[in-house]
This record gives sequence, structure tokens and C-alpha cells, in this order.
Amino acid sequence: MNLSATAISCSNIAFIKYWGNTDQHLRLAANSSLSMNLADLTIKARVHFDSDLETDTLLINGNPAADSAAQRVFTHLDWVRRRAGLAWRARVSTESNFPAGAGIASSAAAFAALALAGTSAAGLSLSEAELSALARRGSGSASRSVPEGFCQWLAGGTDETSYATSIAPVNHWDLCDLVAIVSREHKQVGSTGGHALAGSSVLQPARVASAPERFERCKAALLAKDLETMGPIIEEDAVMMHSVMMTSQPPLYYWTPATLELIHVTATWRADGLPVYFTIDAGPNVHLICEAQHADQVESAARALPGVSDVLRSGVGGRTRLIAE
Ligand code: PMV
Repeated sequence: MNLSATAISCSNIAFIKYWGNTDQHLRLAANSSLSMNLADLTIKARVHFDSDLETDTLLINGNPAADSAAQRVFTHLDWVRRRAGLAWRARVSTESNFPAGAGIASSAAAFAALALAGTSAAGLSLSEAELSALARRGSGSASRSVPEGFCQWLAGGTDETSYATSIAPVNHWDLCDLVAIVSREHKQVGSTGGHALAGSSVLQPARVASAPERFERCKAALLAKDLETMGPIIEEDAVMMHSVMMTSQPPLYYWTPATLELIHVTATWRADGLPVYFTIDAGPNVHLICEAQHADQVESAARALPGVSDVLRSGVGGRTRLIAE
């Protein structure tokens, strides 16, 4: 006997960042966050429960996963098994359509797809909010990859109330994310370890206290499709998160000289009339946010920089969904 399902999910880029938890185990965020799903950076996850299996297994892009990654996925499946009253082990495989080690947060798309494939294979039918909360337990940002388009994750404060919802559909605004790749090195400290360190920075309380105000202004600008207002807010929010990272004990320095060069050059492009703003996740690569009409120009300007080895491009993405196997 076996049960299986396959789901696909977009990655997402946060405009107001999630950094630090009030509950590290459940991944309850210290502050609410705001993001856009990325249509062209996706992960497919297949979960196959089988009564004959003795252990769980995980393949990532066809290769057996490292122990730590595999254990995180199997622990996530345990939530699903407990909820479904199922004891069977599973064969899990994930496939991404973007280059591995490109510094793109793959855990958001992976755990959103895994939550839907796992619950469907186990015969559960969860509401979008329940699915988002379940994805959150695997990776906080995965909660925001479950609903469509532009999403908010209200911190909530309990397992049931901490989930994401869509605030605008895919066709609301033709925004683009151009990810300027400056390094493909695997980061030393991943976001799970980083969240645990956030509270050791004296700047984190100030960041968290001021986040709701940035969130509201950013959301209003996003709903009004006003990039000129939204841009400076997302840049400030990203730099505040990195200031917390750099002042944590021990400190986390994700930026390289090329990261800083992109921060500077984005301002000069704007001064020359090109409306583009940056944001940066837990890595050195720089996400350049602009309207689709300016994406070609931004991409070629970024590609011309010696420190940039590639540019990945994506428009706004839909919700996590099941696909035929
Ligand atoms: O979901 P995690 O644990 O990988 O954390 C994501 C943290 C950031 O990408 C840096 C910010 C965010 O809100 O996506």
C-alpha cells in the first residue's frame, strides 16, 4: 500500500523581513513580514508514504540529502503523520528550477511544497491558513509561499494564529525581482541559526519595535503600486535586518564587497532615472526590485558589473498547488 502526492511552490522575497523568533521550535516570528512570491523560482516536492518502508529518505535534485537537511524534512513529516494518524515512512524528493547554491532561499518553496504534498498524500485536506501555519514550522518564510501573489505573515503569537494570507493577487502589480548573484558559496550560518542569534543584538528590540510602522507604510505603498514610496522602506528594512546580523554575538557578516557595490550603484541608477531598489536576504546576493517595464535595463546594468556572475529574474508568483505526478 502507498499514498503519494506532488506539489509545486514559488520561492518569495520579503519586503519587510522576518528575523528572530519568539518561539524557535514553532518558528513564531518576532515581527510581521511582507513579501512577493517569485513565479520563476520554484520547487516541486513529491511525498510517497509506503507501508513497506523502514526509514524516511530524501533526494534533493536527484542526490541523497545531507543528514541535517534530511532530518529537518523528516521532522516536518512527523507533524503531518501525527495529524493524520499515520505511521508509514516516506520517500521524499524535491527538485528546484534554479541553480543550487545561488543564494536563493530555497527553504521557503521547499517547505510550502512539502506541506501540501505531505498532507495531501496523507489524505488530509487543510485550509490555506492551516497549510501556511504548517509550512511555517518547517521554515518561517515558507508560510508566505502558500497563498498567492503578495502576502503578509502576521506574527500572531500562537501556532494557530501565526500564518500568511494574500493581500493582493498575482496580477495586482507587474513587479520584478532580479537577483544579482555575487557569490555561490554555501553560507556558514543558515537562517535557522541566525534567527536564534537575533536576540543577542542590542539593535533587535529597536528593529522589532519599529517593524509594525514600516510594515503598514510598505503595505499601503504596495497596495497603491507606489514604488517610489515603497523602495526606500524596503531598503531601510533590509539594512536594519543586516545591522542586527552584524551586531549579533557572534556576528553574522553576509555582505561581500560586491554586495556593497550593488547597494551604491542602485542609488546611482536611480539618480540616472532608473526606478530600482534593493533588498538582501540572509546571504550576499542582491535582489533588485523594479517594475517589469524597467527589468531589461536593470538586468543589463547588473550584468555589466564585474562582481556579478549571473542575474536570475522573476515576476510575481501564484499559490502553492498540487500537480499531476
Ligand atoms: O524562513 P527562514 O528561516 O529561512 O528565514 C528567512 C529569513 C529572511 O529570508 C532573511 C527574511 C525573510 O523574511 O524571508
